Amino acid sequence: MSSREIHKVCIVGASGKLGKYMIRHALERGYEVVGVCRPESVGKLDEFAGCITVIPGRTDDRDVIKKAVAGCDGVLVVLVPWGVHDYASGTARAVLDHAGPGARLVFSCGWHITRDGKDVYSRTFRAMLAAATVIIRLVRMADIRDQVKACNLVFASDALWTVVRGSDLEEGESQGLPAWSRHVGDPILASNITRRIDFALFMVEALVNDDLIQEAPAIVGCRTESALAHAAAR
Ligand SMILES: NC(=O)c1ccc[n+]([C@@H]2O[C@H](COP(=O)([O-])OP(=O)(O)OC[C@H]3O[C@@H](n4cnc5c(N)ncnc54)[C@H](OP(=O)(O)O)[C@@H]3O)[C@@H](O)[C@H]2O)c1
Repeated sequence: MSSREIHKVCIVGASGKLGKYMIRHALERGYEVVGVCRPESVGKLDEFAGCITVIPGRTDDRDVIKKAVAGCDGVLVVLVPWGVHDYASGTARAVLDHAGPGARLVFSCGWHITRDGKDVYSRTFRAMLAAATVIIRLVRMADIRDQVKACNLVFASDALWTVVRGSDLEEGESQGLPAWSRHVGDPILASNITRRIDFALFMVEALVNDDLIQEAPAIVGCRTESALAHAAAR
């Protein structure tokens, strides 16, 4: 842990479900918040009018990101692989290039991202991922390989990054800060479910947790069976 001070954060992809939860957590901590979202989604942030600054624009637009991250101590990035034109990697590159050198950068993705190849996936998970990768690329909806490329850009960077790898998600009230492990396949993660509000909590808490710098934690809800069994065994 550290006593790193955060005053101003940029949330890239602020208008989605994860983004809005992150806005709430950030405002609760007294942070000044700048949100980036697509122009057509600005209305989704009406509930925060007067509390945050909204910068409309695509998250892979370098000029938009340059303006949005100026003066921010932390940048929270919802990495999504929409479309087939390098949206996720363009977003990651823009943030890595324009955030200040001392800024904490926290990116979201899923368990399918592996940093060191030591994650262990079930056969079902691998089959579903392979099918989804092909099908959504065929219909030009999304390109999961681009999210992989985005994360590899982050992993290769010297910045103060954290890549938070989400399990399956569900809605519901907060259960508290998720548990995490370096590798999918570790018993603590077996329950494979996290409340979306707590995924956002982990992202925002990572800003002040220096133990997570240059880590890619895979998370799971702290009240799940596998997390509770792990805690009891310690
Ligand atoms: N869903 C899951 O089960 C799951 C599981 C594990 C990890 N994750 C990770 O969690 C993060 C958030 O996922 P989520 O499912 O919870 O989604 P989410 O928070 O609802 O966010 C979706 C984001 O994608 C943007 N978006 C939607 N359609 C788009 C398009 N056509 N072009 C560009 N941007 C578009 C949204 O912006 P607008 O508001 O402008 O539409 C929003 O910022 C991602 O990093 C994902 O990899 C998700």
